Amino acid sequence: MATDPRPAPPPRRFYGRRTGRRLRPGRQQLIDSVLPRLEIVLPEDGRALDPADLFDVAPKSLWFEIGFGGGEHLVWQAERHPDIGFIGCEPFVNGMSTLLAGVQDKGLTNIRVWSDDARLVLDRWPAASLDRVFMLFADPWPKNRHAGRRFVQTETVALLADRMADGAELRIASDDPGLVDWSLWHVRADPAFEWLARGPEDWRHRPEDWPATRYEEKQLHGAPVFLRFRRRPRSDVSSTRSL
Ligand SMILES: C[S@@+](CC[C@H](N)C(=O)[O-])C[C@H]1O[C@@H](n2cnc3c(N)ncnc32)[C@H](O)[C@@H]1O
Repeated sequence: MATDPRPAPPPRRFYGRRTGRRLRPGRQQLIDSVLPRLEIVLPEDGRALDPADLFDVAPKSLWFEIGFGGGEHLVWQAERHPDIGFIGCEPFVNGMSTLLAGVQDKGLTNIRVWSDDARLVLDRWPAASLDRVFMLFADPWPKNRHAGRRFVQTETVALLADRMADGAELRIASDDPGLVDWSLWHVRADPAFEWLARGPEDWRHRPEDWPATRYEEKQLHGAPVFLRFRRRPRSDVSSTRSL
């Protein structure tokens, strides 16, 4: 396979925490023995990943979750969509161990994980290959002075637009009004995305195929807002940007 012609991406820095309370022996065991079987390994030569190599059975479609926390949403979706391949990204090891417990309890075979900043794996992901991307309460940086730490930036929205297939859906949730505005502004500023809301009901109510996450249930900042965007077909978007 040819080497990736795209220029090297800028360095990534993840500001969130990676470790929390010491893991119980059973959870540590999952990290030691199950994680290596499910963890995505990037090709050493800088090539883009081939998602077909990740799963034993070729999935019908690929869905991607950024910052899955304890993985409740990811497990819920994976259980209901066995023919879809799921990629979950979460650098927080305690969250990863909770996801692995869920994967094991439910006997799921359609989840692969990335235990670092989602941008690092997206940098090496092939274009137009993701059919759904979830980012649920995953930007924990409400203060303006920390805005640079947020995942949602002009450049990362463009990265998602490139990796998502025509017609794919991007779902973002937040309970912080400032972060909702930030996300809406950045995603709508990218011509590749169309906001699917027709009225307040659409962003105030979670669709039935969108379970509440653990973070959402804490109701920390206010009413959650649910944003859905469609990746416009490339033939409809005239864009000169390159990644
Ligand atoms: C507030 S928690 C929400 C977790 C979960 N989605 C939920 O709703 O319960 C935010 C999570 O996003 C993760 N996160 C933030 N930025 C990330 C990034 N760039 N790549 C991967 N995960 C990220 C954090 O590690 C953290 O676990």
